[in-house]
Amino acid sequence: MAGRRYLIAGNWKMNGHRSDGVALAADLAQRLAAAGTVPFDMLVCPPATLIAPVADVVKGSPLAVGGQDCHTAVKGAHTGDIAPEMLADLGCTAVIVGHSERRQDHDETDSVVKAKAAAALRAGLTAVICVGETEAERDGGRAEDVVAEQLTGSIPADATAENTVIAYEPVWAIGTGRTPTTADIAAMHAKIRSHLRGLVANSDAVRILYGGSVKPSNAVEIMALADVDGALVGGASLKADDFWAIAASCR
Ligand code: PGA
Repeated sequence: MAGRRYLIAGNWKMNGHRSDGVALAADLAQRLAAAGTVPFDMLVCPPATLIAPVADVVKGSPLAVGGQDCHTAVKGAHTGDIAPEMLADLGCTAVIVGHSERRQDHDETDSVVKAKAAAALRAGLTAVICVGETEAERDGGRAEDVVAEQLTGSIPADATAENTVIAYEPVWAIGTGRTPTTADIAAMHAKIRSHLRGLVANSDAVRILYGGSVKPSNAVEIMALADVDGALVGGASLKADDFWAIAASCR
């Protein structure tokens, strides 16, 4: 932690209809209001269809809302895409870029991710830039090199500790119930921290989240690690009790 404030971010992925999404966000906003001072920031990233109603229901609350992806352009002929300025217009303050599901399903390369992150910063959003190795890369002993290369390729020149968050998500841990050992998470986060020194000003203040099968039962030990500054949570972010329990593990 070292003076950095935790960020607990929920990535709802392609889940939720209007009623359950709005109810989940309202529930979390209520819990935050009732909790008073907490040692974490909380962010939810609903599917694009739910951003407007979720942003409306949490208005005035410290619960932040973000997108799961954005285009690089401000506007134009890009059917199906969403500009980061459009996310900001709805009240978003952040956007996830380079999630492994985007890298896989939409062939997003590091340079695409970098351009999206730069666009997010242009729109005044915090860019949550995701990196992480596949199982074959870890088994081949290449995890740290792969992540270092993704960081170099995906972080835009104007990234700072204030506008950029890194999420380390081993691809093989996402949605599988498997996680690296705490020693492996600690080693990777320390490696990321040192690699950021050449890439981002004030890198010691950059928040580095862990993501991949975070749940209430493993959150306490993961959040206690020195260079872990929060979590990017998929499945467990869809249940208010579980997501709140993960946040409550930040001490
Ligand atoms: P998970 O997903 O928590 O369901 O493993 C994490 C993510 O993909 O951000």
